[in-house]
Amino acid sequence: MAVFIGGAWPYANGSLHLGHIASLLPGDILARYFRLKGEDVLYVSGSDCNGTPISIRASQEGKTTEAIAEKYHQEFTDIFKRLGFSYDYYTRTDSPFHYQAVQHIFLDLLGKGFLEEKTTEQAYCENDKRFLPDRFVEGRCPVCGEKARGDQCDHCGAVLDPLDLKDKKCKLCGEEPTIRETAHYYFALDHFAKELENYVDEAAIDKRWRDNAIQFSRRYLQEGLRERAITRDLPNGIDVPVEGFEGKKIYVWLEAVAGYLTASQAWGEKQQQSIDPWWDPDSSIRAYYVHGKDNIPFHTIIWPSLLLALGKKQLPTHIISNEYVTLEKRKISTSNNWAVWIKDVLKEYHPDSLRYFLTINAPEQRDADFSWQEFILSHNSELLGAYGNFVNRTLKFIVKSNDAKIPQFPPETTIAARVQKLYPSVGKLIESGRLKEALEEVFKCIREANKYFDSQAPWKQIKENPIEANKTLATCVYIIINMTQLLHPFLPFSTKQIQEMLAIEALSWEENSELPQLVKKVAPLFQRIDKGKIDEEIQRLQQKATLTSTT
Ligand code: MF3
Ligand code: ZN
Repeated sequence: MAVFIGGAWPYANGSLHLGHIASLLPGDILARYFRLKGEDVLYVSGSDCNGTPISIRASQEGKTTEAIAEKYHQEFTDIFKRLGFSYDYYTRTDSPFHYQAVQHIFLDLLGKGFLEEKTTEQAYCENDKRFLPDRFVEGRCPVCGEKARGDQCDHCGAVLDPLDLKDKKCKLCGEEPTIRETAHYYFALDHFAKELENYVDEAAIDKRWRDNAIQFSRRYLQEGLRERAITRDLPNGIDVPVEGFEGKKIYVWLEAVAGYLTASQAWGEKQQQSIDPWWDPDSSIRAYYVHGKDNIPFHTIIWPSLLLALGKKQLPTHIISNEYVTLEKRKISTSNNWAVWIKDVLKEYHPDSLRYFLTINAPEQRDADFSWQEFILSHNSELLGAYGNFVNRTLKFIVKSNDAKIPQFPPETTIAARVQKLYPSVGKLIESGRLKEALEEVFKCIREANKYFDSQAPWKQIKENPIEANKTLATCVYIIINMTQLLHPFLPFSTKQIQEMLAIEALSWEENSELPQLVKKVAPLFQRIDKGKIDEEIQRLQQKATLTSTT
């Protein structure tokens, strides 16, 4: 089976923080899992380098948009690598390939009759002398009355037209914008209402989407789909390839989501491989899309309707849309620097510690909190205390008592039965995007393994009944090699280390009962983190934050 995995494209306008990684990590877990199962995985993403967020940042820093995009793209590539993200292709939306491919898509939509030119009114700031991009218009949401940006209300989730906002203000200068006429292309989103309704219903029946995605999407459909402008008056981005539209750009939301397809195409060219298994309407595939909840409508409504219009019928089948991560019980705020930046975490902590924490506390059904206390305690008690310790005590004992030779006995039958069952049950949880429960299942087994080691007491058995001791050790190694496989999608660095210590060449998603011959070397998988770090980190966080009130 071909499995496509699309990770959301982070804006290249600022560093990655916990919130980004919490919503993107499921993509890598899925990719690694499906590869172990032997499926044909194509996992793509890239940096979102065009449009308003990048131009705001550029003007704030007095740099060019190119320089900003370059800086953060490099940073992202580095961070994803250090966190073990196994993208098959990670690209950027300011690449020449994407530029041309998107213009091509635009012309395709135009030729097929799905784009209509209209002159409309748009917010214009007389003071800044520019049309205001949606996000530059701020005001109150016409649906719920809360503060909202022109493109979307974060409070109620409504997709907005900036002109519908109440009490409009220019984000740059605070003046009330005027309204001017400008010509743009509109995409006939309304044309796909019926198809999209069926599409969402089917996803709901099969429970393939997270609940939040189903609910959000149903609401949009109920509100009624309208045609949407897909070009903008912007300085940076992909030019509209039509005469008379000079200076106008293709709107980032058509352009960025199209990146899933263009990145696949670019990968295919590079690998000289057809991308039909993932994109041809007739192949049977799974297509997972992994992002934060603010991205839902773009993946469940806009991207599917663009695909329907293009006749590329491989629509998203699975939507893995995470809720948010709060930090020490407060909303993460990059503008107030109430954030934990991934590059800082990676300076001091093991990448698997972060991957573990963000999975076991994943914001799958509701918001989840990151606290330094929980993070450090979970590292010490679960990763080091349960998993690291089991591996370490078993392998060290074999080195000491048996000259590093692994005793060759079949595993104890009840334990083998328990381990065998984990593959289908954990696999099913992963495939349905329930990664937190999946990881819990594996760790439950690891805690049982520690109890088994304690109750068998091989250090006593070795004196009284060496054969029994060897059987215990063989069973423990059997557990380790299988945990290595079961944990690989979640914790790729420590499982790699085990592979090296036991010279395990290949991993797969099925029971492995062939014990290696020798413990090659033993080194602890994790180091204990001093509890004093908890206060240190919290203080650092508070000192750097510029929060004015305590709300
Ligand atoms: N850069 C946008 C955001 O962070 C879009 C990400 S997902 C995309 O919200 F694929 F649709 F681009
Ligand atoms: Zn203004």
